[in-house]
Amino acid sequence: MPGPGAEARSLCRDHVTGPWMFFAVVFDRLHTERLELLPISPDLAPEMFEGLQHPQLYKYIGGSPPPSRDWLFDRYARLAAGRSPDGSELWLNWLLRRKDSSRLIGFVQATVQHRRALVAYLLFPEASGFGYAGEAVTAMIGALERDAGVTELVATVHTKNRRSIRVLERLNFVQTALKKDAEIIAGVSTDEFEYVRTTGSQ
Ligand SMILES: CC(C)(COP(=O)(O)OP(=O)(O)OC[C@H]1O[C@@H](n2cnc3c(N)ncnc32)[C@H](O)[C@@H]1OP(=O)(O)O)[C@@H](O)C(=O)NCCC(=O)NCCS
Repeated sequence: MPGPGAEARSLCRDHVTGPWMFFAVVFDRLHTERLELLPISPDLAPEMFEGLQHPQLYKYIGGSPPPSRDWLFDRYARLAAGRSPDGSELWLNWLLRRKDSSRLIGFVQATVQHRRALVAYLLFPEASGFGYAGEAVTAMIGALERDAGVTELVATVHTKNRRSIRVLERLNFVQTALKKDAEIIAGVSTDEFEYVRTTGSQ
């Protein structure tokens, strides 16, 4: 079963049963200094579609651009339910809107089961290099810890994805494992690091 975002599916394989009673609180609009984090909605799919077309986005996470606006609309409609079909996981996705330009620039996501969340994030190329990922993930982590009782955050990252590793280390994630041949990306076997952050470690 894929995680909440095919766009970052390599980051979301092993999922952890969710505190459903917190769902309504967590899956809400969040704010940072420069960003609005909007709960995923199919209405926003057309606006996201172009940004998700850049092939370079998939270099380290695998996958490919969404094939059509209709496909992305249907996908976002499913994800807007906020949980897996069997109800065992929260699937939380926020789309990132810059406050200055009102443009959508990417997404953050969390797959939550019990008190553990697998997190992932993606920025469109034109929005990379400005620290937006750290800002958005920080806001998401705050909501997950505060409203859903999450105490362990996990991310997996391609060993060559230096930028993403830097984002995680800045957020006080600690490298806990190296998974050899974790995934095939573009026909090549790739290694991944696992990074973990536990409550109180920041
Ligand atoms: C990886 C990604 C999330 C980075 O987000 P971002 O907000 O643009 O991050 P930034 O580039 O502003 O900052 C990341 C850090 O990496 C550093 N960095 C940039 N390029 C780098 C490179 N080639 N090697 C090492 N570090 C680099 C930056 O200096 C910055 O460090 P600092 O905070 O100490 O100054 C974004 O590029 C992206 O979405 N890429 C495609 C999808 C993806 O890989 N998602 C993550 C999957 S784990």
